[in-house]
Amino acid sequence: MTTTTAATPEAVAIAMEDALDWAVRDSLTTYVTKIARGGYTVDGGAVEREGGVFSFPLRRAVREGADWRFSFVGSVRFVAHGGLMDILIKDPEIVVGPDRGVLATHVADDPDELLAVVALAAALPEADEAGLTWSGVPTQLAPAAVDLFGTVYPAGTEMAPISIRIALDS
Ligand code: HEM
Repeated sequence: MTTTTAATPEAVAIAMEDALDWAVRDSLTTYVTKIARGGYTVDGGAVEREGGVFSFPLRRAVREGADWRFSFVGSVRFVAHGGLMDILIKDPEIVVGPDRGVLATHVADDPDELLAVVALAAALPEADEAGLTWSGVPTQLAPAAVDLFGTVYPAGTEMAPISIRIALDS
């Protein structure tokens, strides 16, 4: 008899400065604040850095075989047109493996549901002693998130690049 052993998820120690940096999309921020006369709020531990980049602290890093799952905390919410437009990006997660990567978030409609928002152009980098670092990895809008942005951007639209810093202990 043969038994198959699934990869055991392995949580990894995380450091204070570990974070995801993502601006969502520059033209969206400009539209919301300058054209649609709305605004955005940053909450739950996320902060806005220079240049309109939102920084979400890492809460959990788990390795499952060749894949990594990074869970971040904090939210940014874009509201305009008297509430008609209400786009929530909350507690993003990145799942990345050797040949795929996706950033998903919790959305306003269902706090329990994760929605794939963008596909990442880069697969997992090799970890070195410093940990995992991505700088300016291009992203493309995932088909599942077209409705989130009011169907204005087609699937595949270039969204803001992401950067992550994850220090690894081992
Ligand atoms: C009162 C209703 C609305 C009006 C009058 C309106 C109007 C507009 C206009 C004129 C633009 C083009 C701006 C430009 O020239 O760059 C635009 C873009 C856009 N709208 Fe709306 N809009 C409305 C509702 C919504 C809603 C409900 C959403 C989302 C749920 C939305 C999301 C967007 C997005 C994502 C863009 C593209 C921004 C960019 O990246 O340039 N809009 N809208």
